[in-house]
Amino acid sequence: MAPLLHLVLAASLVALTSSKSLPVLVPVTKDRTTSLYTIPFSYGNKLVVDIAGPLVWSVCQSGHLPAPFPCDSDDCRRANIYPVPGCSKPGCGNGARKDKTCTVYPYNPVTGACSNGSLVHTRFVANTTDGINPVSQVSVNAVSACATRKLLTSLPRGATGVAGLAGSEALPAQVASSQKVAKKFLLCLPRGGVYGDGVAIFGGGPLQLTAQPGTDYTQSLEYTPLLAKKDNPAYYVSVKSILVEDSPVHFPPHALDTGGAVLCTRVPYTLLRPDVYGPFVAAFGNAMKAQNATSVKAVAPFKLCYDARKLANTRLGYLVPGVHLALDGGKIWRMTGVHSMVDVNQDTACLAFVEMKGVKAGDGNAPAVIVGGFQMENFVLQFDLEKKQLGFFKLPFFTNCGQFNFTRSA
Ligand SMILES: *[C@@H]1O[C@H](CO)[C@@H](O)[C@H](O)[C@H]1NC(C)=O
Ligand SMILES: *[C@@H]1O[C@H](CO)[C@@H](O)[C@H](O)[C@H]1NC(C)=O
Ligand SMILES: *[C@@H]1O[C@H](CO)[C@@H](O)[C@H](O)[C@H]1NC(C)=O
Ligand SMILES: *[C@@H]1O[C@H](CO)[C@@H](O)[C@H](O)[C@H]1NC(C)=O
Repeated sequence: MAPLLHLVLAASLVALTSSKSLPVLVPVTKDRTTSLYTIPFSYGNKLVVDIAGPLVWSVCQSGHLPAPFPCDSDDCRRANIYPVPGCSKPGCGNGARKDKTCTVYPYNPVTGACSNGSLVHTRFVANTTDGINPVSQVSVNAVSACATRKLLTSLPRGATGVAGLAGSEALPAQVASSQKVAKKFLLCLPRGGVYGDGVAIFGGGPLQLTAQPGTDYTQSLEYTPLLAKKDNPAYYVSVKSILVEDSPVHFPPHALDTGGAVLCTRVPYTLLRPDVYGPFVAAFGNAMKAQNATSVKAVAPFKLCYDARKLANTRLGYLVPGVHLALDGGKIWRMTGVHSMVDVNQDTACLAFVEMKGVKAGDGNAPAVIVGGFQMENFVLQFDLEKKQLGFFKLPFFTNCGQFNFTRSA
C-alpha cells in the first residue's frame, strides 16, 4: 500500500512541476548610439528587439547545415505570412516543387533592407524566472532565419540579428509553444546609461523590482485592446484623443482613427503624422506659454525646445504640461516630463516627439501615431496575445526598469 501511494504521489508531483513552466527572462540593454534595445539570445549572440517584427533572424554561421525546412512546412508558411516591403516573395507557389527548401525574407527594421535567407534550428538560451530573480537556465528550441552579414547595417555594434516579437513565427509565440508558457510577454524598457538593463519576460508577469520587494507590478496593469491590421504583424492600439494637461488637442476630423497608433521600438521618439504633429505641438507650446516658459531655438529633429535651466525639475522630470493618450477602454497613458522631454544638450530640453517624414497629412497608409522607445521606457507593458490586450503601468518615480534583480537566489 505505502509504496503504491508513494508512486502515485511522485507521479502527481512530476505532473505538477511539468505542467507549470516558469516564464523566460532576458535583460534588455539600450544601445547608447542607436537608442535601439538588444537582448542576449544564445552564447555571444545579441539581437535587436523589434516589437513589430515577424521573424527571429541572425547572420548565418559559417558551415551551418543545409536547412531541413521544406517550403511547404508550417514554419516556412508562418515565416512568410507577412509581405515584406521591397522584397519579392516567390514562396512555395508558381509550380515550385513542394520539397524545395524554404526561403524567407528577413528585414532590417532600421534601414528597411531585406534579403533572402533560410530557416535554421537554433536555441534561445536564457533563465526562467519567478518574477523576482532568475531561477534556472533553459535552452529553448527555436527557429530563426539566417541572413547575410550585410543585413546588419545600422544595427547596434555587436548585434547579430533581430528578435521580432510580433506574429506566429516571432519569439514570444515560439517560446510559448516550446516552453508551454502563456502566450504573452512583458517588456520593461530601460532608459539606459546609468540606469542598467531592463527586462523582457516571455510568458508574462509577475514582475517585482528591488525598490519595492513584494509588489507585483502586473497587478496594477490597465488594459486596452490590441488591434491587428491586415498584412501587418505590428501591435496597434486605439488612441481616442491626446490631451495636453487636461484639454483634448483639436485635430482634423478622424485624424487619430486614420492609420491608428502602433507601438514600435524601431524609432527612438514617438512619431506623429503631420496632421497630428502640428496641432499637438501648438497645444503643448501654448500650455508652456501659459506657464510663462519661452521656447528657444529648436534642435532637430525636435520642433519645440526650452531653456532647461529655467524649467523646474521634479522627481517626475521637468515640470511641464502632462501629455496623455486616451486609449480605447477608457484608460489613459499618462506621461510627465520624464516621458515627454529630452535633454538634447546641457542647456536645452525638447518636446520628445518628432514629425513623421515622407508622409502627407491624413495619409491613411501611415499610422497617426508611432509610439517610440523613449515614451515606452519605465512602463511595464504586457502584451497578451491570447486575450489580445495590452496591459500598461507607469512605474512609480522611485523605481525604474533597471531595477530587476538579475542575481539568482541561492
Ligand atoms: C540568397 O540567394 C543567393 C542567390 O540565389 C544564394 O546564393 C544565397 O545562398 C541565398 N542566401 C541565403 C542565406 O539563403
Ligand atoms: C542566468 O542567470 C545567472 C545568474 O544571474 C547568470 O549568471 C547567467 O548568465 C544567466 N544565464 C543567461 C543565459 O542569461
Ligand atoms: C506669468 O506671468 C504673468 C505676468 O508676469 C503673471 O501675471 C502670471 O501669474 C504668470 N503665470 C505663471 C503660471 O507663472
Ligand atoms: C537580489 O537577489 C539575491 C538573491 O535572492 C539577494 O541575495 C540580493 O539581496 C538581492 N539584491 C537586492 C538589491 O535586492
